[in-house]
Amino acid sequence: MKSLHFKDSVLNGEIQVPGDKSISHRSIMFGAIAEGTTTVTGFLKGDDCLSTIDCFRKMGVRIEENDDKIIIHGTGFDGLKEPSEVLDTGNSGTTTRLLLGILAGRPFHSVIQGDESIAKRPMKRVTDPLRKMGASIDGREDGEYTPLSVRGGDLQPFDFTLPVASAQLKSALIFAGLQSEHETKITEPEKTRDHTERMIRLFGGDIKREDDTIIISGGQSFKGRDIHVPGDISSAAFFLVAGAITPGSSIELKNVGLNETRTGIIDVLNQMGADIQLSEVTEDAEPAGTVTIKYSSLKGSEISGALIPRLIDEIPIIALMATQASGTTIIKDAEELKVKESNRIDAVVEELSKLGADIKATNDGMIINGPVKLQGGEADSRGDHRIGMMLAVASLLTENPVSIKDIDCISVSYPSFFDDLQSVIKK
Ligand code: S3P
Repeated sequence: MKSLHFKDSVLNGEIQVPGDKSISHRSIMFGAIAEGTTTVTGFLKGDDCLSTIDCFRKMGVRIEENDDKIIIHGTGFDGLKEPSEVLDTGNSGTTTRLLLGILAGRPFHSVIQGDESIAKRPMKRVTDPLRKMGASIDGREDGEYTPLSVRGGDLQPFDFTLPVASAQLKSALIFAGLQSEHETKITEPEKTRDHTERMIRLFGGDIKREDDTIIISGGQSFKGRDIHVPGDISSAAFFLVAGAITPGSSIELKNVGLNETRTGIIDVLNQMGADIQLSEVTEDAEPAGTVTIKYSSLKGSEISGALIPRLIDEIPIIALMATQASGTTIIKDAEELKVKESNRIDAVVEELSKLGADIKATNDGMIINGPVKLQGGEADSRGDHRIGMMLAVASLLTENPVSIKDIDCISVSYPSFFDDLQSVIKK
């Protein structure tokens, strides 16, 4: 249990946001399947991305970790070796699902297993289409749950519409498609984060988009290169909300990734009346910039539809923000929250209720009434990093301390979270 209480603090100053988790995973994956050396700066050394490094090392890829950079000695797809140990994906859904797509094209045997949370997350959405492409995959409940064993190879032409808006599923199928000798077409119901597509282009590959359909030509190879990972907007989100709801605050977040498939949180902050500004925006392979947030009064809003995939990981912290906004906030079309690191509809509603929020669960989201004076009390991260950080931010406002069970899980995506929080607490 960690007891936190930052009531009456004012947040002021600047934070360098740590590297983007999604892009960091992909930088290792592309570095490994490219030929030659890839040097990554800005890499997020969180537990999830370290799991990805560990899995590729087990397939024979040499990866050096320095203080400020990661160097990957890529082997190309064909140089990946049959692992003699289980590939341990830890808490990482992205590692588990994207790796399945890479392994689906490899003519060897491998076993993927993660932690307790991964063992509950649905994998059939990935294993079923990969089987249809031609990979042989088995696992608990017919390939729904880890441990999963894969024997890949000989992939067939494939034309598939995603049943859920999931960048992890899309990316897994793209990785398989790159190794097929044929064309792969993937149609998305809603646009999801496109870091995989951008990285294919960055590494010299070819991928097209026609309306909602992505077209991948098979048999592609990549050349290693230098790559810079911008800061993670999903990590910045905790401070964007902390600044917006803590009276007197003003925080400058540097190096925030601003890929439009990820900036739903900025749209919501604007929708709710926050005082937010973007500056120093650079348009690289992945756009980035400075985001400045100041405290202001907020109003409730509806968050639904195509916005949801653009802020799916930010919903826990948005829910906390909504407890401080006047009026009702309705979050819907977000059933996917049930299959994240925890069931995030239940976790957000039950944990915020313990602190005194007026919040109720719906089948595909939640309804929150505000503003409410949060009381504090005992709460549980449920081993979910984003629930843990949401509860820590809540302790800026609660009348009494918030005691959080299992807070160490935040190292999955933001190991320096408490250092950054302390650095902007000015009173
Ligand atoms: C991710 C995609 C999202 C997101 C996850 C990271 C990615 O998951 O929630 O944290 O890196 O592709 P889904 O694709 O399952 O929605």
